Amino acid sequence: MSSPDRSVPVRPVLHLRSVRAAYGRIEVLHGIDLVVRPCEVVALLGPNGAGKSTVLKVASGQLVPTAGCFHILGRHANGIRPDVLARSGLCTIPEGRGIFFNLTVTENLTMMTYGGSSRREVQERAFARFPRLAERRRQVAGTMSGGEQQMLAMARALSVQPAALLLDEISMGLAPLVVDELYELVAQIAADRVAVLLTEQFARAALGVASRVAVMAQGRIVAEGRPDDLPADLADAYLGGSGTAGRREAGGSADTRAGDTSAGDTNTSNGRAA
Ligand SMILES: Nc1ncnc2c1ncn2[C@@H]1O[C@H](COP(=O)(O)OP(=O)(O)O)[C@@H](O)[C@H]1O
Ligand SMILES: [Mg+2]
Repeated sequence: MSSPDRSVPVRPVLHLRSVRAAYGRIEVLHGIDLVVRPCEVVALLGPNGAGKSTVLKVASGQLVPTAGCFHILGRHANGIRPDVLARSGLCTIPEGRGIFFNLTVTENLTMMTYGGSSRREVQERAFARFPRLAERRRQVAGTMSGGEQQMLAMARALSVQPAALLLDEISMGLAPLVVDELYELVAQIAADRVAVLLTEQFARAALGVASRVAVMAQGRIVAEGRPDDLPADLADAYLGGSGTAGRREAGGSADTRAGDTSAGDTNTSNGRAA
């Protein structure tokens, strides 16, 4: 739970250097440089098709770079199988959550005992962090709400006490308030010295917890920095304006949504369908 000491350079958990990657002969990542350290939340943002999920596939070992390399905890990791990376502390929650929809909460958690933890340890850890899952322990995952399913996905990932957590579009299909709740959990997870790399097409909630943001377009990182430092024009172009609108409102300056009375009056909705 300690906050990082900024005066000491912390060894990166994930480090991508000039990574290129392709599907067949079509190159979709054209040289990605990215560092994620413990306690950091790095948000990869950008439009559909920009290459965000492909970066996570490389970082989780599912796709081997065609050039460049990636390191995990200082070890060269090109070509290391995803299951080996997972056992060395890398956890991935893919788009679509990666849970077993026809199994109960407890059964889903039990599948995570392969790392050597007992069922009881895995459950205790999960229920301590996600009390709502304890209430629903016997419920079949497919019948839970989208937000609860995403919590279960996170609980499964965290049951192995990872060094890095990769999250692909966790807000997909969820209402803004649920997304805020999930991001609050993401921030807590990072504070426990986990390095978090996440992708989002819609930036609003991610910007609230991100330590750094990298904006992708067409297989390249076109801007990188702290959320507040993103140039407004770039944010508008690549984030649909949603991120900056949310932050301007939060900052109490110009009301960019004046006149919009149909939605977003009770929370910080960025105008997406809830
Ligand atoms: N399995 C695949 N086979 C071929 N091309 C793919 C595959 N997955 C993604 N692509 C292509 O790679 C590019 C980047 O996709 P992706 O990483 O999924 O982007 P994002 O996650 O930012 O939406 C897109 O042009 C997409 O069509
Ligand atoms: Mg994607």
